[in-house]
Amino acid sequence: MSASVLLHDKQFIPFLSSRQIAEKVNELAMVISRDYRWQKPLFIAILNGAFVFAADLFRSLSLEAEITFIKLASYQGMTSSGKPVTAIGLEEVVSGRHVILVEDILDTGRTLYEFIPRLQEQQPASLRTVALLRKPGALQYPVQLDYYGFDIDDRFVVGYGMDYKGLGRNIPEILALQTEPGY
Ligand code: IMP
Ligand code: MG
Repeated sequence: MSASVLLHDKQFIPFLSSRQIAEKVNELAMVISRDYRWQKPLFIAILNGAFVFAADLFRSLSLEAEITFIKLASYQGMTSSGKPVTAIGLEEVVSGRHVILVEDILDTGRTLYEFIPRLQEQQPASLRTVALLRKPGALQYPVQLDYYGFDIDDRFVVGYGMDYKGLGRNIPEILALQTEPGY
């Protein structure tokens, strides 16, 4: 496990080691491989944060599967519900496919809450979600994950694909923002 790291103006301290992450990713891959044995699922990973998790998870699967990557863009004020989210880069046909959405972390839940209905419109045969991390204390939208790795406290984390203002994605483990002494 590495020492603490300074990114821009903030200090981050070790939180989850590469080994802990790898073990969890393997467990998730085993469960998903078992559940989707007959289904040749389509993984849709949400960029940027999920790229490392998605790559490791995908390589650990023991089944036939496809993967694609999307970016989400939201537009203000197009419907009464606020900000519909559209996917950039989704060229695969989703209709009739068994889809697994891959996220790095479920925080407020807003991203998935807004995007899942858009994907449902394309009538996948099934739709499930997987994220490496969940922050139960931060959840503000009614979103449930079908698979997840770790529940963590409501702390800001970086590494393993996740960033603080663009930095930290290449750190192989997960670090958490150091809280100020006295907090
Ligand atoms: P949500 O829409 O609030 O659930 O947040 C989802 C997105 O915010 C995640 O996919 C991440 O990209 C980003 N995010 C949330 N929490 C963190 C964090 O602690 N570190 C880095 N990125 C985060
Ligand atoms: Mg993300």
